[in-house]
Order: sequence, then structure tokens, then C-alpha cells
Amino acid sequence: MYSEKVMEHFMNPRNVGEIEAADGVGEVGNAKCGDIMKMYLKIDNGVIEDVKFKTFGCGSAIASSSMATELIKGKTIDEALSVTNKSVADALDGLPPIKMHCSVLAEQAIKSALVDYSKKNNVKIEGLEDIDFDDEHLHDIEEE
Ligand code: FES
Repeated sequence: MYSEKVMEHFMNPRNVGEIEAADGVGEVGNAKCGDIMKMYLKIDNGVIEDVKFKTFGCGSAIASSSMATELIKGKTIDEALSVTNKSVADALDGLPPIKMHCSVLAEQAIKSALVDYSKKNNVKIEGLEDIDFDDEHLHDIEEE
């Protein structure tokens, strides 16, 4: 049911923890399962120098967070913004359909941390303006 990569990232998640005085911190949750994901970014010159996460959630959410941190570490803000739940799931060699919503948390955690960064630093990030993090969709289970 789960790919080897999912199992591997679940058993040995990368970049677990938190960054003190992070430049951006995002927290998202899924009201239906109660899972919570927190993401910390260290950003220098538009590049994500470091990223850490803490996920209180299911194995797929932990594997998704771990993979998401790997996908954005060392990348530019624009590159991080292009990471979607699908790219996270693809990088994990897929997630079972009923677990796709877990990867949505990873995408939203990245975006939420970037929103925080943009607010704290008064930096405008194209593509983030349209996201309403109070919006219901963040808390809904999204399945494909
Ligand atoms: S079941 Fe809630 S994020 Fe996976």
C-alpha cells in the first residue's frame, strides 16, 4: 500500500525539529483528522538556506513533510512556491488516494511559512496574495 520511499521517510524523517529565530514559520492543520504540521524556514537572499518541520500526524503526513523539506532546501522562494502536494506525493513514489490530503498539508505548510516570511520582512511574494489561510479549504480533507 505504501511505497518504499514513504516508509523510508516515515522511519527516518529528514529535517525534523525547529529553527530558532526562523525567518518564516507556518502552521497548518486538518480539522477532520486533527493532524498539525509546522514548518520553519531560514531564508537568505531569497534562498531557503534551512528548513525544519514538526508534524503531529499520520505517517503519510510525516513522510510528506520530510520530502517537502528536501524538495525546498537550497531552493529559491519561487522554486519552493512551485512545490505542490502532487509533486510531494510524486517524489514519494505516490501516496494511496485516501492519503493524498496528507500531502496537501505539506504544500500548505510551505506556503504558510512563506506568507509569514513575507509579512515579517515586508517582502511581496508573487503568487501568495491569493491564498487565504483562514479559508476553509485549508482545513478540509482534499482527496483526489
Ligand atoms: S490522516 Fe491527517 S494528515 Fe494524514
